[in-house]
Amino acid sequence: MSGRNVLIQARDLRKVYAQPALLGKGTEFVAVQGATFDVARGETFGLIGESGSGKTTIGRMLLRLIEPTSGYIGFDGYDVTRLPKKAMRRLRQRMQIVFQDSGSAFNPRRAVGEQVAFPMRQFGLCPPNEVRDRVVELLEHVGLRADQADRYPHEFSGGQRQRLGIARALASEPEFLLLDEPPRPWTCRCRPRSSTCCNSCRRSAG
Ligand SMILES: Nc1ncnc2c1ncn2[C@@H]1O[C@H](COP(=O)(O)OP(=O)(O)O)[C@@H](O)[C@H]1O
Ligand SMILES: [Mg+2]
Repeated sequence: MSGRNVLIQARDLRKVYAQPALLGKGTEFVAVQGATFDVARGETFGLIGESGSGKTTIGRMLLRLIEPTSGYIGFDGYDVTRLPKKAMRRLRQRMQIVFQDSGSAFNPRRAVGEQVAFPMRQFGLCPPNEVRDRVVELLEHVGLRADQADRYPHEFSGGQRQRLGIARALASEPEFLLLDEPPRPWTCRCRPRSSTCCNSCRRSAG
């Protein structure tokens, strides 16, 4: 893979969780070790493994929602693991994550359209008079309707809320989108320039 095309670089990522014991000394649990991979621009990259194998942990580390115990993460040449908070905030516009339960992160007291619009306003991505049209476009892109923009989160099913989570992640126009356990049809449909999908092989998890 030519260096120019690499968007994400993960090198020997390791995450150790401390496990507190009720009595006596706690133990350590190695959730991820030796994770090394590249994601190219425009590539859809899959992380596949049994439940509990560390996929979500890797995803959270890539976006630095949690700190790796050791290892290197590069995003477009930036060392994510050492980036100061302010620079990291700017980078967040370029890298987004959709959790399995992203929909539950919506504020129950605000209309969903306003919440999907939030990243556009936050990052100044869209002229104010075009925000509404862009929200409608995103809702329709994820299979929802324009009139649903004015509804509240409780008026949607779990699956629809997950779509809302995808719409909101796409609103920030990320170059990299990480989908944690996405419903299968979505892995292709909501592609930004690069994406990573974490899928459990439930059958083999037995
Ligand atoms: N915050 C945490 N503290 C301690 N252990 C954790 C924590 N988060 C995840 N784990 C453990 O790390 C392992 C990997 O979890 P996870 O990354 O969620 O796996 P996956 O997404 O592949 O199902 C699991 O055994 C899980 O119990
Ligand atoms: Mg997971």
